[in-house]
Amino acid sequence: MTSNALIDRFGRRIEYLRLSVTDRCDLRCVYCIPEGFKGFEVPDHWLTFDELERLLGLFAGLGLKRVRFTGGEPLLRRNVTDLARRVAAIPGIEDLSLSTNATQLVHHAEALMAAGVSRLNVSLDSLRGDRVERINGRPVLGQVLAGLEAGRAAGFAPIKINMVAMQENVDEIDAMVEYCIERGFILRLIEVMPMGDTARKMGYVDLQPFKEQLRRRFGLVDALLPGGGPARYLSSPDGRFSVGFITPISQHFCETCNRVRLTVDGTLHLCLGQEERVEFRPLLRGGASDAEIIETIRRGIDMKPERHEFRDAPEKVMRFMSMTGG
Ligand code: 5AD
Ligand code: SF4
Repeated sequence: MTSNALIDRFGRRIEYLRLSVTDRCDLRCVYCIPEGFKGFEVPDHWLTFDELERLLGLFAGLGLKRVRFTGGEPLLRRNVTDLARRVAAIPGIEDLSLSTNATQLVHHAEALMAAGVSRLNVSLDSLRGDRVERINGRPVLGQVLAGLEAGRAAGFAPIKINMVAMQENVDEIDAMVEYCIERGFILRLIEVMPMGDTARKMGYVDLQPFKEQLRRRFGLVDALLPGGGPARYLSSPDGRFSVGFITPISQHFCETCNRVRLTVDGTLHLCLGQEERVEFRPLLRGGASDAEIIETIRRGIDMKPERHEFRDAPEKVMRFMSMTGG
């Protein structure tokens, strides 16, 4: 497998694919989809489950080990648990996870667990109903908290909570830490990335000072969590609580980037913050052989940029997060 593996020009081994199973979402987070946005992909362009299974199977033959379903909101894709079952069964795929806003999680938690999804990340920016309505665009706090309880009851552990840090919610960081400690959730604080006009207008809150405050207030120490993602963690000395910091702006982490992103229309994006991409839909629908598809996968990996330029060229990325799936 080693000689076959996907290694980019900077020596990074690509083992992780984030699959956006739909670009639709039931929320309108202020840092993501503009209210009234109409430019969603047409369903004819969505890769079918058969197409996805074939493509991910070829990736897995090249050393892909982990897949995460993202969106938009992945639970809005019809029969997403069937897709989960098929992806989890691909030889070589060791880990299947899902990022969700949890508005529909009550209905899907048990089926997702049975289908082979092992880990959940849930977006939660505030514990106050009025703020959730303002930040996320819909009054869904109750639904989301119920979804989280359903996820816990279904046995997902640990569940990670993603909180995007903004001027409007930084005063809730301590409350969120306490909420997560009580429930055994891992908290991750995220700097707003300048993707699309929505997020660019907001600016970002530098998380470094908050990290030092939390370290002191809760007696936390630096920790390494398995998975090797972009978050840098602090944990309680007994290891029972962890808070991660995803700081693409104040401290980027591109040297260890092991991931690529596939959007619902079959476009492989090589970097969240750059435009390099290759298209698989024409190949999948035009009778391409496995060898041709594999060659395109390799061509894509060869195009993976060294790093994003969120800080130096924040005007660069026009697509917003729900298009590429975070
Ligand atoms: N910057 C940072 N994170 C974002 N998300 C969406 N848009 C942005 C952005 N501009 C994250 C949110 C959500 C996940 C789906 O993507 O945390 O939890
Ligand atoms: Fe939907 Fe996630 Fe974008 Fe919010 S951040 S609008 S939940 S896709």
